[in-house]
Amino acid sequence: MKTLVAFFSASGVTAKAAKLLAQAADADLFEIVPETPYTKHDLNWLNPRSRSTVEMKDRACRPPIASRVADMAQYDRVFVGFPVWWYREPSIIDTFLESYDLSGKTVIPFCTSGGSDLGETADNFRRLAPDAKVPEGKRITRRDDEASLRAWAESL
Ligand SMILES: Cc1cc2nc3c(=O)[nH]c(=O)nc-3n(C[C@H](O)[C@H](O)[C@H](O)COP(=O)(O)O)c2cc1C
Repeated sequence: MKTLVAFFSASGVTAKAAKLLAQAADADLFEIVPETPYTKHDLNWLNPRSRSTVEMKDRACRPPIASRVADMAQYDRVFVGFPVWWYREPSIIDTFLESYDLSGKTVIPFCTSGGSDLGETADNFRRLAPDAKVPEGKRITRRDDEASLRAWAESL
């Protein structure tokens, strides 16, 4: 069984979690890089006009991604990681899910956050990748280590 860990990270926290998960699950790693990187100003959730606020208010928003997974067909399992933004997955994750044929694969959400859990994201994933199998997923915290992530990955 071949596994991919794909992740988006705006400030490095999810990147760190994704690297640990890739080690634990013996997986390849792919970073979802936005065509236009998010600046600090873009990430200001207190500003109703910041890029992240505007994007997250628009469910149809699909920010472009700079590159593609070379051969998605080879993977049986795809973990998709992101920081929780406004209680769900950032819009660029929606772009990612719609960019590939994920049918027959197990697609597993994981997140980091300031405290929110995954919320509605597994349901969003199921809508965006209707032919994939989508378990509930996991919020990765500082308490997780390689052993806990390996146990989780093996339990799926
Ligand atoms: C625009 C924006 C919205 C956020 N919304 C939430 C939220 O709804 N709930 C939460 O717990 N944390 C929220 N956060 C905090 C991030 O989820 C958290 O800091 C995350 O670990 C950052 O990961 P990163 O370094 O990989 O980008 C938000 C952060 C940003 C920038």
